Amino acid sequence: MIEKLEEVIKKVTSPANRIGTFLGATSKETAHIVVGGADYFCNIDPRIPLAKLKKGTRVLVNEAFVIVGDLGFETAGPVTKITEVIDKDRLRVGSEHGLQSMVLQRSADLAHSTLKSGDEVRVDSNYRMALETLSSTKSHEHYLDNVPELPWEKVGGQEAALQAIKDAIELPLLHADLFQKFQHATPKGFLLYGPPGCGKTLIGKATAYNLTKQLREKTGAEMQEYFMHVKGPEILNMWVGESERMVREIFATAREKRGEGFMPFLFIDEAESILGTRRASRHSNILSTLVPMFCSEMDGIDSLNDVVIILASNRADLIDPAILRPGRIDRKIKVNRPDKEGAREIYGIYLTDDLPYDGVLAKEVDGLAASIERLIERFVDWQFTRRDENKFLEVTLRSGRERYFPYYRRHRRLAQADRLRPRKRRQNFACQTGLRRASACNLWRDLMPAKGK
Ligand SMILES: Nc1ncnc2c1ncn2[C@@H]1O[C@H](COP(=O)(O)OP(=O)(O)OP(=O)(O)O)[C@@H](O)[C@H]1O
Ligand SMILES: [Mg+2]
Repeated sequence: MIEKLEEVIKKVTSPANRIGTFLGATSKETAHIVVGGADYFCNIDPRIPLAKLKKGTRVLVNEAFVIVGDLGFETAGPVTKITEVIDKDRLRVGSEHGLQSMVLQRSADLAHSTLKSGDEVRVDSNYRMALETLSSTKSHEHYLDNVPELPWEKVGGQEAALQAIKDAIELPLLHADLFQKFQHATPKGFLLYGPPGCGKTLIGKATAYNLTKQLREKTGAEMQEYFMHVKGPEILNMWVGESERMVREIFATAREKRGEGFMPFLFIDEAESILGTRRASRHSNILSTLVPMFCSEMDGIDSLNDVVIILASNRADLIDPAILRPGRIDRKIKVNRPDKEGAREIYGIYLTDDLPYDGVLAKEVDGLAASIERLIERFVDWQFTRRDENKFLEVTLRSGRERYFPYYRRHRRLAQADRLRPRKRRQNFACQTGLRRASACNLWRDLMPAKGK
C-alpha cells in the first residue's frame, strides 16, 4: 500500500518532459538538439539507439536535457517556400525579395528528394529543419486545361481567323530555320477578339491541338501540349504584390514545362480585365504594376518556340497598347459572328448522323445525310430571313428623312456604326419603337437624349 502511494506521489510530482528537435549526432553518445529556440549538446538514454534517430525528428528530453524518447516527425507546422537550394544540405526559404529569409537544413526524409525554388516545405516549430515538401504543383495545375481532339475542321465559319493564325503562328513555328535565315521577326502570340460565344476559346484550344500535332509530325518527337487556361479575373487579388507573383509563377510554369518537353500555350481569357489600359485613377492601381510585370515576363520569352501566348477578349479596345506593341502581341485576329455560310458549316459540325432525328424529314429526301442537309438549310434560311419577330429596332430620324429597320441577327453592325458616328448626328434620332432585346440597352441609352428634344 505504501509502495503504491509512493509510486503515485512520484508520478504526480515529477515535472513534464520537454520536446526538442534532433539536429544530428555530435559523437557516439551525444546529440545536438534545439529546445524552445535554445541549442544543447546532450546525452542520450542508452536504451535509445542514436543511429536510429532521424535528423529533424522530435525528441523527448528530461530535466537534465537527456534524450529519453523518440517521438517521430511532427505532423503539423508552418509552411514556407524555397527561394534557393544552396547545397545538398541546406535550403534558403522565405520571401522572394530577400526580406525575412532564412536557411534551413533538410531533414532525413528530404535528404535525397529533388527540391527546387518555388516548392513549398513544412518547417519544424523551431524553424531549423525542412520536414516535408507539399506539392506546389497543384497550384500550377489549377490552370491546366485539357485540349480535346480539335482539328481545324471542327471550327466552322472562321476561315479568315484560322488563316491569320496559320500565317502568324504556324509558319514561324514549323519553319523556324527560314525565319531565322531571313531575320524575320516572329510574334510571341496573338490576340483573339470579337463578340461572345463565337469561338475564341474554341479557336485557342484548336490552335494548341493542331500546332502540337504538326510539331510532333515534323520533329518526330513525342510532344504534348500544355494548355494553361488563365481567366483574367482569377489573377486579381486584394493582396499587394500577389497578382504579380501569380503572373510570374504562370510564366515560370510555362518555361518549366517547355524544359520538360511540353509545348506550352498560355491562353488568357478575358484579357482586358488584367491587361487593361493603365489610368491615373486610384482604383486602377493594380493594373499599373500588373501590365509592366506582364510585359517584362513576355520580353523574357525568346520566341514562339518557348511559349505561345494567346489573349482573348470581348473588348480589345480596352487592352493596354504596351501589350499589343510590335515585338509582343502584335497580331490581332478578329473572330466574327458567322454569316449564313458560316452558320451552315457550324450546324454541319454538330448535327452528326448519330443523333436521333425525327422521321418526317427522311420522307422528303433519301438518306440521313440528305435529310440533315435539308434540316440545316431550312433552319439557316429561317434564322437569316427578315421577319417581324426578329425585327429589333425601328429608328426614324427627327427630320423624317432616314429610317432604319435592323434585324436581330444584324444588330451588331448597327451598334458599331453608331459608335463611329459623330455624337451630334446621333442626337438626331427621334423615336424608337420595337425594342426586343436587353442587349439593345446601350443603343437605347445613346438614343435617349433625343426624346425630350
Ligand atoms: N465557329 C465555331 N465552330 C464550332 N463551334 C463553335 C464555333 N463558335 C462557337 N462554337 C461553340 O460555342 C461554344 C462557345 O464558344 P467559345 O467558348 O469558344 O466562345 P467565346 O468566343 O470564347 O465566348 P466568350 O467571349 O464568352 O468567352 C464552343 O464550345 C463551341 O461548342
Ligand atoms: Mg471564351
